[in-house]
Amino acid sequence: MGKIIVQGGARLSGEIAVSGAKNAVLPVIVAALLSEGDCVIQDMPQLADVSTICDVICELGADVEKINGKSVKINANNINNFEAPYDYVRKMRASVLVMGPLLARLGKARISMPGGCAIGTRPIDLHLKGFEAMGARINMEHGYIAAEADRLKGARIYLDYPSVGATENIMMAGALAAGTTVIENAAEEPELVDLANFINSMGGSIRGAGTKVIKIEGVTSLGGTTHNVIPDRIEAGTYMIAAAITGGELFLENVIEDHLKPLIAKLKEAGMQIEEKGTGLYVRGEKNMKAVDVKTLPYPGFPTDMQAQFMSLMTVTQGTSVLTETVFENRFMHAEELRRMGAHIKIEGRSAVIEGVQRLTGAPVKAPDLRAGAALILAGLAAEGETEIANTFHIDRGYDKIVEKLRGVGAKIQRS
Ligand code: UD1
Repeated sequence: MGKIIVQGGARLSGEIAVSGAKNAVLPVIVAALLSEGDCVIQDMPQLADVSTICDVICELGADVEKINGKSVKINANNINNFEAPYDYVRKMRASVLVMGPLLARLGKARISMPGGCAIGTRPIDLHLKGFEAMGARINMEHGYIAAEADRLKGARIYLDYPSVGATENIMMAGALAAGTTVIENAAEEPELVDLANFINSMGGSIRGAGTKVIKIEGVTSLGGTTHNVIPDRIEAGTYMIAAAITGGELFLENVIEDHLKPLIAKLKEAGMQIEEKGTGLYVRGEKNMKAVDVKTLPYPGFPTDMQAQFMSLMTVTQGTSVLTETVFENRFMHAEELRRMGAHIKIEGRSAVIEGVQRLTGAPVKAPDLRAGAALILAGLAAEGETEIANTFHIDRGYDKIVEKLRGVGAKIQRS
């Protein structure tokens, strides 16, 4: 199994091009299942998760033609299989997103129950509640969830929690349902707005994406389109912290500043310099950055997907910070690994109390999940000596060429 080895202490400087967003491209590829025409998707990041989702839709009968490393052409006119098997759902939870499009196109979907995952139980009850409200009959059998409907009917659905996946799944189902679907207390994440734009460019009618209430007028069919995926705000945020933790300066090209507002606010509070320049962001870390408190929340709050990386920064800032995780119940596995590098972290329920130390020291550590893995690379950049990170397959699920990008700005990092 591959490892990433980091020699800490190098101050980063230079430019990094941010890739397309993982959490936008996955639902967009799935939504191509709704269309009877050719969908060209551009600005895709090269990630293990993107390959997996392409395999999933191929399995369902879609044609996926690679145009180049960053673009694919998908045609789902002849999809005929309505089952997403265990192997895929186990590998990547986002596979459950095929349920909405399959129900809408074929009137049937059979999805392996997603098991527990490293960052919590992550149920899909809200997705199912939405489909039921739209007239689907749901059954659990042999570890699978089976859903059936003659034609989905528009409905008014209130989500008890603004789940990103549930909002996306219901939005996709509603795109081809009879009548109007209204999602209340919807998630507002930018990736979801990208998905709505994609569906609308295929001929769909979705209004209000990015607000708490989304209205979807169902249409009878959707056609082809060409779509460019939005930049990855979590990748950009991770490199912002790479600059902060090394006292370096970076220009991050291809950033939508507005998507990063909560992180920018917290990094500025900690003492970082951040300036929007054209289509990018100039960021500069300071020697004596200070501890700040953070609470993760659904968008536009501080993203849970930046919590681990922010914790790495807080391990070496002046003072004590409290990070409270409200989105997932078990998302502090990186704390134990950071402690191996000399960090002072106490976990108290949903909060982590971090007392900044003068320096971290390199150590062999294991990436417990995707963002936690990135957090360990960041800690390694700041630590004295060598950090060896195992289980890097987690990191490759969501970071496009992370080793090459960091090496390009002066990090001493390699794979082994
Ligand atoms: C998406 C992102 C993930 C991010 C998360 C929160 C993708 C592919 N993944 O995941 O990177 O960390 O949003 O920003 O876009 N919940 C329920 N019932 C449900 C669905 C969710 O209780 O039916 C709960 C979950 O257990 C969790 C919370 O809602 O506690 C948020 O989950 P959700 O927003 O659905 O996250 P994902 O869409 O899985």
